[in-house]
Amino acid sequence: MERVPEPELMDDPAQARAYAAADFSEPHDRFVQLFGECFPGVAVGGPVLDLGCGPADIACRFARAHPACTVVGVDGSAAMLEEGRRLLVRQGLAGRITLHRVYLSAETPDPLVPGAPYETVICNSLLHHLADPMVLWTTLRRVAVPGARILVMDLLRPATPARARELVAAYAGEEPEILRRDFHRSLLAAYRPEEVWLQLQEAGLSQLAVQVVSDRHFIVHGQL
Ligand SMILES: C[S@@+](CC[C@H](N)C(=O)[O-])C[C@H]1O[C@@H](n2cnc3c(N)ncnc32)[C@H](O)[C@@H]1O
Repeated sequence: MERVPEPELMDDPAQARAYAAADFSEPHDRFVQLFGECFPGVAVGGPVLDLGCGPADIACRFARAHPACTVVGVDGSAAMLEEGRRLLVRQGLAGRITLHRVYLSAETPDPLVPGAPYETVICNSLLHHLADPMVLWTTLRRVAVPGARILVMDLLRPATPARARELVAAYAGEEPEILRRDFHRSLLAAYRPEEVWLQLQEAGLSQLAVQVVSDRHFIVHGQL
């Protein structure tokens, strides 16, 4: 199935509200668990960068799992960051997590993100939004130290439109229409693992591994 791009930023307040209200505990806890599996025995103590942090649910889960770290989340959507700031206050994590509005692109001048370079960079579900996927991989080079720990997770594009509809029914069947629409669009906009592997070769990041971890997710992990 051909890829169908979707808008980059999720900057409609209703869309951000619906996304922030959704229960992503299963994939987001899995993300944190996968970090532990990719980097066993690592106690993350310094600042961690979360690219495309959205409403900061992963930033919060990561911060709770690694009590000695702080997290800097960046996203281009003001609506998402507003949702995120509310979550930080509700969870008592405003002292350890800071959120910044940053539009990630090849044209955005340095310093691209505050506090760079980082020793740990995490990123969930940003890649499929990017008009140019190479922006993610070149961003890693701009914001991370050599040897930095990297964990990126994203959706993988199903083989057929029918399979995309099945996944929406299975994982978002009970969700509001706006979420079902966005999940469907995201599946169509996602990359196949073999496409991501080629992106990594082009970016000179062949040391990072691509691994399918569920019926709809892959991860890219390793050290820069
Ligand atoms: C599907 S959400 C994922 C949010 C969060 N990482 C999570 O897993 O819940 C994708 C996020 O990437 C942001 N985004 C997309 N393109 C971006 C860009 N070029 N620069 C900064 N943020 C971007 C969107 O605004 C949105 O908040």
